[in-house]
Amino acid sequence: MYNAYFGFVENPFSLSPDPAFLYRSTQHEEALANLIYGVQSRKGFIVLTGEVGTGKTTLLECLREYLEHQYFEFAFLFNSRITSDQFFEMVAYDFNLQVQRTSKTEVLFALNSLLVSQANEGRTTVLIVDEAHNLEWDVLEEIRLLGNLENRQGKLLQIVLAGQPEFDRKLDSPNLRQLKQRIVLRTTLVPFTEADTKEYIEFRLDRAGMPSQKILSDNIISEIHARSTGIPRIINGICDNLLLTMFAMEAREATIEMVDEVTTDMRLDWPTRRKIRSQQGMEQPSFGRGD
Ligand SMILES: Nc1ncnc2c1ncn2[C@@H]1O[C@H](COP(=O)(O)OP(=O)(O)O)[C@@H](O)[C@H]1O
Ligand SMILES: [Mg+2]
Repeated sequence: MYNAYFGFVENPFSLSPDPAFLYRSTQHEEALANLIYGVQSRKGFIVLTGEVGTGKTTLLECLREYLEHQYFEFAFLFNSRITSDQFFEMVAYDFNLQVQRTSKTEVLFALNSLLVSQANEGRTTVLIVDEAHNLEWDVLEEIRLLGNLENRQGKLLQIVLAGQPEFDRKLDSPNLRQLKQRIVLRTTLVPFTEADTKEYIEFRLDRAGMPSQKILSDNIISEIHARSTGIPRIINGICDNLLLTMFAMEAREATIEMVDEVTTDMRLDWPTRRKIRSQQGMEQPSFGRGD
């Protein structure tokens, strides 16, 4: 909507996990290197965790790009609220397995021959599961068993599981002990530092066709950082709305009033604001009846 106004060739703050827009913060760079190394080393499970909006799916998309480039076979499951039957159906579909009916036995049989033939050609086969915190126990158990398939050179299927921090906690539960023991690499994404937020915003603007931007001052970027708590998805939301407001008001620079308006509309709450509000007595601690 505002692209022409600012001269962008693409929307700078789109919410799609597009590898072309990957900002290589130190942690994202490291996490991606870990994913690639983990997959190549054929040793077992790789787990990527992080709060909502920190860039997990974006990194998985980068991994996918890498795997496509290497002609590695892979299956990428986004939907993790599935039964184990659906899991096998999705595996069969994604690996393009030639099965008549997608029964578990048939899928396992076909998958095994795919894995063996890939391994014989020296190729790694990868299963990627996003939103893994939603996986049911029995599906996790099936995944663990798939991870056991091996030949003399190592595991036949590399498995990457990405999920929110509760997935880490889930892995600590006693009935997932065996799966946990098989994890060779764990990577966690945390929110950006303020310096990262600034570079991230400028990188995205540059990538969209605005090098050396002058529309967001350092002060404004600092506010965006505080209000987003450094979470890329929220940064994108604020910036997108901010650009829209600037366009509507025919402004060339964002003001703090605009940031206020946008974050109020987004109903954002952030730690420094909560602190100020409670100092001003605007936020009373609530007590239950009878206290
Ligand atoms: N390192 C990064 N570079 C570019 N964009 C990023 C980065 N990290 C996150 N984003 C953006 O933030 C948003 C949320 O990222 P996403 O990968 O969907 O997070 P998650 O899967 O952890 O919830 C997306 O719009 C994505 O493009
Ligand atoms: Mg995601």
